[in-house]
Amino acid sequence: MELVTNAAPVPRVLVVDDEEDITTVLGDILRDQGYAVETASDGSQAWDKAQTEPFDAVITDLKMPRMGGLELLRSIKEAGHATAVVIMTGFATVETAIEALKVGAYDYILKPFKVGELLQVVDRALEKVRLAAENLQLKEQVTLLRLSEAVASSLSLNQVLAIVVEAALKEVDADGVELLFRPPGSKELGKRLGLGRAGPLKPLLANVKQLEQALADAPHVQFQDQALADLLYRDAAATEAGIRTLLSVPLRRGNENLGVLNAYSRKARKAFLPREEKALMVLGDRAATSLENALLYANLENTFRETIQGLALALEAKDAYTHGHSENVTRLCSAAARIMVLDEEFCTTLHQAAVLHDIGKIGISSAILNKPSKLDPEEYEIIKSHPRMGKRILEPISMLSAVVPIIYHHHERWDGNGYPEGLAGEEIPLGSRLMMVADTYEAMTSDRAYRKGLPHQVAVDELRSCSGTQFDPECVKAFLAAQPKAPEPS
Ligand SMILES: [Fe+2]
Repeated sequence: MELVTNAAPVPRVLVVDDEEDITTVLGDILRDQGYAVETASDGSQAWDKAQTEPFDAVITDLKMPRMGGLELLRSIKEAGHATAVVIMTGFATVETAIEALKVGAYDYILKPFKVGELLQVVDRALEKVRLAAENLQLKEQVTLLRLSEAVASSLSLNQVLAIVVEAALKEVDADGVELLFRPPGSKELGKRLGLGRAGPLKPLLANVKQLEQALADAPHVQFQDQALADLLYRDAAATEAGIRTLLSVPLRRGNENLGVLNAYSRKARKAFLPREEKALMVLGDRAATSLENALLYANLENTFRETIQGLALALEAKDAYTHGHSENVTRLCSAAARIMVLDEEFCTTLHQAAVLHDIGKIGISSAILNKPSKLDPEEYEIIKSHPRMGKRILEPISMLSAVVPIIYHHHERWDGNGYPEGLAGEEIPLGSRLMMVADTYEAMTSDRAYRKGLPHQVAVDELRSCSGTQFDPECVKAFLAAQPKAPEPS
């Protein structure tokens, strides 16, 4: 069986010396070793070549016209290239070679040197570059894995985007990362997350529209000089931060632009490297997936909310008394829940439960529901079936699974004398206990076909006197705290 392996790319080596004989001889020797070799006669020519495509190794003389080896080394390091630089030096300049090591040269070799010595140094240098690249790849894979897990798990949109920004700052050699995105339900890229090396980043991008236009047909764009200045805030953060380069990628899904991911650099270098462009694009893609999921979910939630509202309206159309009642109970419940500082998820569930709490009355005849006089015992028993009926109607809807128990038990009393199950105390779901208070207050204070509503204070006194029997005392306390004043007479 034949094994298929990915051939490693041929290492690219640049030899720099102002003596042509040296570059020619060294070039030939290194080519014989199977390297892709280029030569340059001084630092400036070498830097031009390295900027077009970074080399794996650069072997350079120190003293050359126009631009010396040390300056070339500084440019390469400043640009963030993963290049191993080997300095060729004579005894006279050995001090400078040591200085070069401090700046980040991989090693130096003393002239005159034997071919074997040079090859050994170059081999070691290339091995180091290869290992560093492998490490980087591994790090990228770990980051992407972490991100994929975050996207797949139930982390919120903001949590996932924060991970994207954090990962971008690490993966791309940037001084700051800014993510602008369109929150669900909005047309503008109005939300922003910014992270610099020292913590949160002040807003830098001013001209979002112009950036979006530049990105319309491109997978990524880089800006410098005037083009960059036109995009940033003129007076404040950008000038202060000394931003020299911006790399931007769009967060695109189909024809829709969901946001932009920007990396900023203060370095006086020409551009972010192709590797960094790729990394930012991959991270941008993860952010776009998350945003798309959030938008889809928001649409689903919206449809769901409209369906709930539709059900509540169907009940109101049948039962004149419930007109506005569910809405009022919802408002009162939410206010009391806020006083009890219950978490957001609970408040959302309670809100849905309050809107739908009497939905079971849909199954009760209009003649009983709208009877202007007092109900007889048999009719009262039928009315009492509405929590059970509500449970039956809503149970098949999986998204309402948390809502059903609250509705089912909303007529249970704290002392155990309620219905349908006769639960007592904390056996009754908290949402139902709160709703019992809000529902009773609303029923007492609203007008009926056969009587006027009671004044606020009378209803409050009634709640107080039944606290501990009909109602959970804590819920009464929270409810009253949320209703400090009597409503203005209308
Ligand atoms: Fe009810």
